[in-house]
Parts: sequence; C-alpha cells; structure tokens
Amino acid sequence: MESKKIILSGIQATGNLTLGNYLGALNNWTQMQDKYDCYYMIADLHTLTVRRNPEELRKNTLSLIALYIAAGLDPKKNTIFIQSHVPAHSQLSWILNCYTYMGELSRMTQYKDKATKHPDNLNSGLFNYPVLMASDILLYNADLVPVGEDQRQHLEITRDIAERFNSIYGETFKIPKAYVGKDGARIMGLQDPTSKMSKSAENELDKVLLTDTPELIIKKFKKAITDSENKVKYDKENKPGISNLMVIYGVIKNKSMDEIEKEFDGVGYGDFKKTVGEAVVERLIPMQERYNELINEPEKLKAIYQQGDKRAIVKTADLLKEVYRKVGLVVD
Ligand code: TRP
Repeated sequence: MESKKIILSGIQATGNLTLGNYLGALNNWTQMQDKYDCYYMIADLHTLTVRRNPEELRKNTLSLIALYIAAGLDPKKNTIFIQSHVPAHSQLSWILNCYTYMGELSRMTQYKDKATKHPDNLNSGLFNYPVLMASDILLYNADLVPVGEDQRQHLEITRDIAERFNSIYGETFKIPKAYVGKDGARIMGLQDPTSKMSKSAENELDKVLLTDTPELIIKKFKKAITDSENKVKYDKENKPGISNLMVIYGVIKNKSMDEIEKEFDGVGYGDFKKTVGEAVVERLIPMQERYNELINEPEKLKAIYQQGDKRAIVKTADLLKEVYRKVGLVVD
C-alpha cells in the first residue's frame, strides 16, 4: 500500500483569527484529514519576532488549539502540536541557518514589509524567520504545505535550502510543494476587497473575527463594499467586492461561481449580502460553541496537545539525527 502523503502547516498564535484564516486555512485542513497524514502546529516561536505580552501569547496558544479542534480537526486523525514543545525545530533551524545566505533572506518580501513596519525592533529573528519555517516543514518530510499566497516565497526558500543541503550531503530532505487552495486561500477585506482580510486591519468593518457575535457579523456584511451594477456576477477585476462575497459564500456552501450567479439572478445586493452574512453566522456559531466548551476544559486541551507533541517528537528524531551526523556532529 502506498503511504499517505504528508502535510504540515501552522498558524501563528497571535489571537483574533479572521474569517479569512478560517476559510483560507482551517476549513481546508479539515478536508485533508482523511486523505493525508497531517501535522498542524501552533507556530508560537515565530510570534516572538515581534514583542508579545507573555500572558497573552500563552493564552493565544491554547486558544488556537481549541480553535483547531472546534473548526473540525480531529486530534486522533491529525497530529496537533505546539512548535516550541518539539525542540528539533529550533535545533534544525540553527543548522539550516548555516546553509542560508544573507542575500536570499534579505530578498524576502515579508521581511522587507515587516522591517518597514517595525523599524524599532529589527531583530535577527525577523530576518531568520524563513529558516525556522523551513525547519518546521523539512523535519516532517512534508510533501505538501497548505499556505496562503503570502507564504509562497517562504516555501520557495525552503525548497532552495533543502536542495542545497541535499546536493552537499546527498538525499536528506524531501522537497516540499506549496498547496495553495483555490479562491478560498484568499479572502479579501470587506471594506477594501483588493487586499487580503487581515487580523491587523485597523478598520473593524474590514474583517470578520471568528469571535464576532451574529449581529456584528450581519452588520459587517451589510456594510461590505460592492459596486453600482447591482448584479451578482463574478468579476474579480471590476467587481472585487461582490466577487469576494461570492467566494465566501461559495466556500461555505460548496458552490461554484456559476451556481451562485444563477441562484442570485435578479436578486439585489442588499439581499445577497444578507444571505452571505447569514451563511457565515450559520457556520461560525456552532464553532464558537465548541470552542467555548473546550476552552473551559484546560485539562482536555492539554491532553490533546501533549499527545500531538509526543508524536511530533518521535516523528522528527531520526531526521534530525541524520542531519547532525551528516554535518559532522557526534551523534551517539
Ligand atoms: N509563517 C506562517 C504564517 O505566518 C506560519 C508558519 C510557521 C507556517 N511555520 C510554518 C506555515 C510551516 C506553514 C508551514 O502564516
């Protein structure tokens, strides 16, 4: 029997996830759990590249685990773990730093963006961020890495680092591929549908948070920016607002753009926006309920991540050892 392909992905534990994170990531992950051998981590180490409130980071980490499960990831089928609990990530990261060039890291667009946004805290973690991410991925022999469009460049550098290492020491790392979902990977802002819905957006109306109440969700959809044509038609260039609402509705209802155009033929924007808002509420509210139950059972949550941590530790041990041996460290 051919063994299942391996998937690894993670989300930074920074709190306040949006509908974009859910439809673009978590929702896709839940659809992969039967077909693939999946590893989903909470990227807590990555969050340290920006100053965090320690208590908040701890809270966000646990809350993200609860959310993974509330969103439908079965901890029996998937390995759900905390990055910092698996020391091999940091250990491999050091080694791979020595096989990554300053030049290639300084070309990373995310680094350049962040460097502009946080000029007062330009720490070397921010610079080395992609190397830790490469370690996350390579340690598991991941075949596919579901990521948003914005992480594609980090996948490319991961492949470059892996190929470089393999060419020096022989076949060591599997070369992973990015797995960018269809439109679901990119949910845009409700007020500015030309840029990705971001948890850091200043305009509250631009983003739907997974913790929003039904009233607030409906209100945000009612106020979503559209256009003056009053025709539900998919046209990303000329009708980015309506197209984004169609994508949201399509992912939730599992419908194609064609089907949605037919369904809303002759229906005005007001009613369409209301229907999309209601579909979102219908999906998010049960998730919020499961989340609230879990977050009030810290022992249960702990048992879940400890089980995942253990599996991840076992899974990564051999490869790290092989790398240590290949580069010349004494291993036994
Ligand atoms: N950098 C990713 C993000 O911000 C999070 C992340 C960390 C990740 N390690 C990863 C994603 C490994 C995929 C695989 O979205």
